[in-house]
Amino acid sequence: MKRLRWWVRGCVVLVVGVWGVIVQAAAPKLSRATYERLVAVDIAQVQACLSKCLESAAEARRHQPTARALAMLLAMEAEVLGDAALQQQALQLAEALNKKDFAAADKLAKSLKASPSATPLASKPLHKQAGFHLEEVMSPYRLGRSGGLNIEKDIRDWSKKGAKLDPAAVEILAARTALLSEYTFHMPNDKAEINKANTEQWQKYSQDLIELSRQLAEEAAKGNSANPATMTGLLNKINNKCSDCHNKFRDD
Ligand code: HEC
Repeated sequence: MKRLRWWVRGCVVLVVGVWGVIVQAAAPKLSRATYERLVAVDIAQVQACLSKCLESAAEARRHQPTARALAMLLAMEAEVLGDAALQQQALQLAEALNKKDFAAADKLAKSLKASPSATPLASKPLHKQAGFHLEEVMSPYRLGRSGGLNIEKDIRDWSKKGAKLDPAAVEILAARTALLSEYTFHMPNDKAEINKANTEQWQKYSQDLIELSRQLAEEAAKGNSANPATMTGLLNKINNKCSDCHNKFRDD
């Protein structure tokens, strides 16, 4: 009897394990309403980013990696929203940006348009597309004045006791962090690839971040009835998770 119970338990663990891996290959499970809001904000953001890139070579250097990240976020958002045209445009935009063809990229950015459908697109390994890489994934976290989206600073400021939180802004930050962490998961750096334990640790940090961000997006989506203490608590946990990975894997 005892043996049978262990056997059953083993199967459950195995199934949960395999399921976890499959789930991981897809976009984070945020609500459709959150994805719809995110896609609108990210289209506007990538257009603003492109205007900056056209200002000067210095601005282009600062903003290009974030523009690339936004294009790749849009490609993932399009997958969830079943928007094949938007996904194709977003990937073309990422390619044009990779070639630093800012005139073409600006045109593409201005033509971006969301037209969601009921069925999500088949999931494909977006992290392998358009030469997207880790430094670009981390770029939106940088300070706004350095060409980032100020996410790291917002996480830190908003996780302080008594911080005034705008649930709509928190929802967008949380959703972006979830999607960026999905990309991070698939891009272990050299140190994370030294051995299996390191790779798994890298993946665990990323996965924990996806889950914490998902919870934060869910709470923030409640709008005026979102609980500030819950949001602050989650922002704190998110901040610690970023630091954990940096302490272990980032060399500087
Ligand atoms: C799984 C590991 C991991 C996680 C999780 C992670 N990072 Fe990073 N991050 C890195 C590594 C490695 C680098 C260095 C990348 C490089 O320079 O190639 C980095 C770089 C950065 C940079 C510098 C980018 C630049 O170009 O100057 C910022 C800012 C940053 N991370 C913020 C964050 C924030 C905020 C979070 C959490 C929401 C986070 N990171 C989560 C591993 C991680």
